[in-house]
Amino acid sequence: MNENIPAEVIAEVEDLRRRINRANYLYYVKDQPEISDAEYDRLMRRLLELEEKYPSLVTPDSPTQRVGAPPLDEFPVHEHIVPMLSLQNAFSEEELRAFDERCKRFLDMPLDSDIEYCCELKFDGLAVSLTYIDGVLVTGATRGDGYRGENVTENLRTIRTIPLNLHHTKDESKPDFKPIPRLVEVRGEVILRHDEFRRINEEREMSGEPTFANPRNAAAGSVRQLDSRVTARRRLTMYCYGIGACEGVEFETQYQILRTLDSWGFLVNPNIRKCQNIDEAVDFVREWQTKKEDLDYDIDGVVVKVNSIDLQNRLGYVARSPRWAVAYKYPAHQATTRVINIRVQVGRTGALTPVADLEPVEVGGVTVSRATLHNEDEIRRKDVRIGDTVVVQRAGDVIPEIVEVVKEKRTGQEKEFVMPSKCPVCGADVIRLPGEAIARCTGIACPAQLKERIVHFASREGMDIEHVGPALVDQLVEKGLVKDPADLYYLNVEDLASLERMGEKSARNVIDAIEKSKSAPLARLIYALGIRHVGERTAAALAERFGSIDALKNATEEELASVPDVGPVVAKSIATFFRQSETEEVLRKLKAAGIDPKSEKRRVSDVFADKTVVFTGGLSSMTREEAESIVFQLGGKPSSSVSRNTDLVVVGENPGSKLERARSLGVKVVTEDEFLAMLREAGVEV
Ligand code: IVH
Repeated sequence: MNENIPAEVIAEVEDLRRRINRANYLYYVKDQPEISDAEYDRLMRRLLELEEKYPSLVTPDSPTQRVGAPPLDEFPVHEHIVPMLSLQNAFSEEELRAFDERCKRFLDMPLDSDIEYCCELKFDGLAVSLTYIDGVLVTGATRGDGYRGENVTENLRTIRTIPLNLHHTKDESKPDFKPIPRLVEVRGEVILRHDEFRRINEEREMSGEPTFANPRNAAAGSVRQLDSRVTARRRLTMYCYGIGACEGVEFETQYQILRTLDSWGFLVNPNIRKCQNIDEAVDFVREWQTKKEDLDYDIDGVVVKVNSIDLQNRLGYVARSPRWAVAYKYPAHQATTRVINIRVQVGRTGALTPVADLEPVEVGGVTVSRATLHNEDEIRRKDVRIGDTVVVQRAGDVIPEIVEVVKEKRTGQEKEFVMPSKCPVCGADVIRLPGEAIARCTGIACPAQLKERIVHFASREGMDIEHVGPALVDQLVEKGLVKDPADLYYLNVEDLASLERMGEKSARNVIDAIEKSKSAPLARLIYALGIRHVGERTAAALAERFGSIDALKNATEEELASVPDVGPVVAKSIATFFRQSETEEVLRKLKAAGIDPKSEKRRVSDVFADKTVVFTGGLSSMTREEAESIVFQLGGKPSSSVSRNTDLVVVGENPGSKLERARSLGVKVVTEDEFLAMLREAGVEV
């Protein structure tokens, strides 16, 4: 069937489909695109061009034959009543005018007549459909493949701009007033504003999760969250721009649809314009080319829709897109340049972010000489090396990023980036905990993190120092009065009185508050140190188990990991923190200032003092964690493996290989009853 088609064309079509399918999968299913939109559009256009030239090559499963990727399994499937189709694209003013001409030809209109258009922004988010029955939101769904999407109702319900009930917000006596239909599908785009995007990424950075590359991925990821509480925290918004199925209400124009949606309580973007002809639509497109930079959300183009619904019906659909609308896509601000160096920046939370220094290049009117590389994995995924030629992209006011490497330009001289093992700012160890994407500095006195660390140290859950909040800490650090948390205890009234808006009386109050905090219990001091992953609960467990900062400092990773709430990852984080010389110095200064709280719970007994105790098999009177905790409190060292240094092995039900090992090493073995008797002897009631 393909006799007349050159073999290289067949090969190219196959290659294009493979690349587009992969891009689709990463974009739609994984929310982790690997190629830029511009590159995707280029591939798609080439495939469309070849399929148009050689129609026998078109197969039902070609990516040109579908709108998106199939829905995931996790959410129930929702079938759209009226399919959610896609839009044909235009990339130049000529293509916009060609669209206008196509419409006129199809409608048998003279080419010099005018078609009225409704121009709207093309939001760069995630398309969704909301179904209302008798004015009540019953379902919210993603577009999916256009026919069947994912039912994400619970998630969409969390979006404040989506009305759960429809009611008229405008004067009902207006001539274009439309009643609320018995059933209606409302279409629109869920987006994330730039400030929210930045907030979410900051939070993710703090908790060690990988950051989102752009607001669209963040919005898509948030809508497709299985836990709607997570979605709620993302503060998404939705702009409505159309209607699918609608029972009992008719519209004359697209503009009227938008005004009606607004009157029913939906968020409709105010930047819409009725244009008398294609010239005015072109003006709108030109205007937004620059104005879009000032928006606090992303758009990637303008949608030009034939305004009259009657004309829309006559124009109909072709290949899953309406003939009556076109999406004008602004070229993504991209440029090619070279990576001069890859540096590491230390954020205020200690996160190490690799940043590429670039040969300065103009990207959409702005000179760019730096681009974020997010984290180590991202560098490996994109395989960016020092000396590489790269494509950089700038979208909205989001930091420029490297889209891809132009591998053909490699000379072999490029150097791979290695994450430093010491913090470039303070020299403390850098740690990347298992399962985390972000590498972090562990330095307690790291200048890059100092303000944050001191605010945390003084916070209510920490040392609870009244009056020492972000504003005062700012000044203390700027003036060089405080270089680590312990320095707070060496301040005097004169130091403080020299600060802005600080009289002698307030200075004295601050000093008193600092003095008072010296009696904070051990758990709060541990929390205040700001050890990664040590929250209030873990701090309390550590205080109970170790009883003093010195004991905690000297604990091995294994001992740490035996504390309830502390797994191997947290144990590693704690052990690394206490290994730092900066930590030692701060602890020394704290002790010298009189801060060395002891937890009173520990009652050392001779029976267990300094004895290494291992449990094997299940205990019937308590959990293993409880038993280990008691042993610890009695001065013993619970451990999870048997060695020559083990003093005692307690055997419960169904013991494991530890028992054999204990026997072969000649370690003392006791039963649970014998262990309980030892506890009683040590004064513990069991
Ligand atoms: S109208 C029949 N209007 O663009 C098509 N779509 O390819 C109806 N989009 O992901 C679409 N802003 O969610 C329309 N003002 C707007 C839009 C818009 C963004 C998205 C849409 C879909 C894609 C269409």
